[in-house]
Amino acid sequence: MRNKQKPKFTVRDPKRSDLRDLLSNYLQMQKEIKTNPYIGIPLSGQRPTLKKERKWLNELLKKIKKGKAVVTVAEVDGHVVGMCDITSESSPEAKHTGTLGILVKKEYRSMGIGTALMESSLKKARKKYSMIKLDVFGFNRGAKRLYKRLGFKVYGVLPEAFIRGKKLKIDKVMMYLKFD
Ligand SMILES: CC(C)(COP(=O)(O)OP(=O)(O)OC[C@H]1O[C@@H](n2cnc3c(N)ncnc32)[C@H](O)[C@@H]1OP(=O)(O)O)[C@@H](O)C(=O)NCCC(=O)NCCS
Repeated sequence: MRNKQKPKFTVRDPKRSDLRDLLSNYLQMQKEIKTNPYIGIPLSGQRPTLKKERKWLNELLKKIKKGKAVVTVAEVDGHVVGMCDITSESSPEAKHTGTLGILVKKEYRSMGIGTALMESSLKKARKKYSMIKLDVFGFNRGAKRLYKRLGFKVYGVLPEAFIRGKKLKIDKVMMYLKFD
């Protein structure tokens, strides 16, 4: 029987050896979207492979070194179960702004991991950016609650920004947080 006790987690910087966990978490979310299309991020359309994920992770680690990203992962029993990344805008005129993304593995949600990941990334981000922005699906009430709780404000909604599958129309809610 599954142990119902809440697992202990730690948050830390990402490393190269997190590759397989990060890929597996992303693939699991892709599968989850088939039964719950109201969550997540716009899908890329390509199936991520280990090779592509390795390239993506190497680039992300390089960005962190160059000060162009801050990333936090959550670990339970030696495996990464969530990640929050904040990456720099490409234009030098928007380099004061970071863009945030977050994913926690389904079976580890509602345990405070998302909050801890965001708090850790936002703490690091304060030293680099004066503002953080993110996009969230209109349906994604849980994620919006988390962002609002951490001080994010809605600055716009793009109705029907995405169409998932044949006809699920999804609004994009845009939020920002300005550091004092
Ligand atoms: C959005 C997401 C990152 C939130 O992560 P999470 O780990 O579930 O977040 P938390 O556990 O910190 O907070 C979620 C809820 O759990 C509650 N919670 C926090 N700690 C808790 C604890 N120890 N015990 C019980 N509940 C707890 C929080 O109060 C919060 O409740 P609320 O939703 O009523 O406000 C996660 O749901 C996810 O990855 N979703 C799929 C991908 C996605 O949609 N990402 C967002 C793209 S924009």
